[in-house]
Amino acid sequence: MVDLKGQYERIKEEINESIQAVIDSTAFIKGPAVKTFQNELENYMDVKRVIPCANGTDALQLALMGLDLDPGDEIITTPFTFIATIEVIQLLGLKPVLVDIDPETFNIDPEKIEIAITVRTKAIIPVHLFGQCADMDKILEIAENNSLKIIEDAAQAIGAGYTFNNGGIGKAGTLGNIGTTSFFPSKNLGAFGDGGAIFTNNEALGDKIAAIANHGMKKRYYYDYVGLNSRLDTIQAAILSVKLKYLDDFNTARQNAANYYDDAFKNTNEISTPVRFKNSEHIFHQYTLKVKNGKRDSLKSFLNEKGIPAMIYYPVGLHMQNAYKNLGYSEGDFPVTEKICSKVISLPMHTELNEQQLKYITESVNEFF
Ligand SMILES: Cc1ncc(COP(=O)(O)O)c(C=O)c1O
Repeated sequence: MVDLKGQYERIKEEINESIQAVIDSTAFIKGPAVKTFQNELENYMDVKRVIPCANGTDALQLALMGLDLDPGDEIITTPFTFIATIEVIQLLGLKPVLVDIDPETFNIDPEKIEIAITVRTKAIIPVHLFGQCADMDKILEIAENNSLKIIEDAAQAIGAGYTFNNGGIGKAGTLGNIGTTSFFPSKNLGAFGDGGAIFTNNEALGDKIAAIANHGMKKRYYYDYVGLNSRLDTIQAAILSVKLKYLDDFNTARQNAANYYDDAFKNTNEISTPVRFKNSEHIFHQYTLKVKNGKRDSLKSFLNEKGIPAMIYYPVGLHMQNAYKNLGYSEGDFPVTEKICSKVISLPMHTELNEQQLKYITESVNEFF
């Protein structure tokens, strides 16, 4: 699905130098490379505060911990996402309240948010799934009308631009109160291990979250909050500084591959290619097709047999997962999610896809149909 080796080969010298510099300095924990990367990412994202942390799951947890929430408070999010999004809500003793998705963009359906709001609702976590933003104009309006906070899960959308209906622009993760991302190796900005970050334009909140990520301390050995030990590793920060310079080019390479796929499938009636939401750039963390007539699983087997690693993101809605039975949901509660789970298939998507590979993949898909 990804070609991390091919990408590394292209920028090997710079990456190796950056790693060696950290080793030479022996500043392994909170070394200067972390602060450098933080500043570079603040500039790139055009956001006041970036708080680097250990991974994208911690980033979500830290964001929630930064808000003054009480046990049982409700957080609205989507059942069609990676588990981390609802896992941290439940771990903190809060209640995930799920809202069905839009069948075209796979993102949370804003039209269905309002009926899920109760007196206990405190925040919405839109997930910018597969590389494009949820409908932030509508979500921000709902949040404002109901005094809710927004935490954007931008783990899959780093670098995606968003244009508001009034013409304003911003990047995924900087559009609400807090944004989070992941530097998991296969992400659009991937480290050589785990990593994550939190974004906010609220400096006081940024200071608080930074303290929580550092055991809850602002002054050494004085603890203002119950915190975590969630640091971005210095070697990872040094690698990410190199890769950040290439992020826009990496995203363009993904978009070019997506355009090739779109074009090759334009006459293939039994599949729908990804829909681009008008307000958001799509940076194609995943290229996800919808397959008609119940043929998804046989297409997957066919491709796998031909050596093409197609994947199902995600096979089951989070409302149907055993660990979350306590939420009281059952089959049929989120019909769009359930239908989409049975239809989607993601094709290989990364920065190194060449014409020969794209030709082989698309011809194989078309051969199946
Ligand atoms: C939507 C989403 N949220 C959160 C995460 C968690 O990030 P991490 O794996 O860095 O903890 C991921 C990816 O893994 C993700 O895809």
